[in-house]
Amino acid sequence: MRVIIVKDYKDMSRRAAKVVANRIGKKPDLVLGLATGSTPEGTYSELIRIHREEGLNFSKVRSFNLDEYCGLSPDHPQSYHYFMYDKLFNHINIRPENIYIPKGDVENANISCEWYEEKIKEEGGIDLQILGIGRDGHIGFNEPGSSLGSRTRIKTLTKETIQDNARFFKKGEEVPRYAITMGLGTISEARECLLLASGANKAEVLQKCIEGPVSAEITASLLQLHPRVMIIIDEEAAQNLRQKDYYQYAEKMAEELEVSQKFGARKK
Ligand code: GLP
Repeated sequence: MRVIIVKDYKDMSRRAAKVVANRIGKKPDLVLGLATGSTPEGTYSELIRIHREEGLNFSKVRSFNLDEYCGLSPDHPQSYHYFMYDKLFNHINIRPENIYIPKGDVENANISCEWYEEKIKEEGGIDLQILGIGRDGHIGFNEPGSSLGSRTRIKTLTKETIQDNARFFKKGEEVPRYAITMGLGTISEARECLLLASGANKAEVLQKCIEGPVSAEITASLLQLHPRVMIIIDEEAAQNLRQKDYYQYAEKMAEELEVSQKFGARKK
């Protein structure tokens, strides 16, 4: 895992957008896995800026979102459909037919989950998956106890997650108790994962995710088994990491290595 510690939310967003733009530059028809929540919002704004000012082209990009609430229609302001169009899709040149988000308001959600898995396969699999992390360690909506090999399915949300997400809903409006989410097995198959986190309220869970045991209790810890993971977090979120100094040192060394691109054998 490559752990990159930056100053603040703004820097995290800029750095993450740069990674996404770089991958699209290398592969214009990138299959991009997207996340919702407040964490990636800044990254999406920065991507919009790069699209407008530097011509980043999304016309061939295909996207798959991690999750969606059950029981909310796509035009509900708190649905993840609405969020994605509002924060990103309406402002870039991605084609509507290339956008995939689990459907939360269908009669047979199980069929819709299977269809989603098939569609990811048909499009060649996810190249880069953006992830946030919940305070209970979830990625997507894979709450504690999720099977590490799980596929897209319906999950019951924990009380903690419902509480955390209540801030987005109107006062008195009920927060959905179920969601459709890509499974941990689905996420693990992405060729690259980019986990983002900002703020002191994520510090405790990030320490467990990055340095604790791999466990279904903190489902994000599964990323420790993934061959290509980049974690971009700000100083506040990184404050509990035991190996923080090492991650910063390693990052500095990696940058130097990138610049010099040399690693010749040492001579006597
Ligand atoms: C929700 C989403 C997750 C997201 C998490 C954290 O539960 N399903 O994908 O990572 O919230 O949200 P935030 O970024 O607002 O802290």
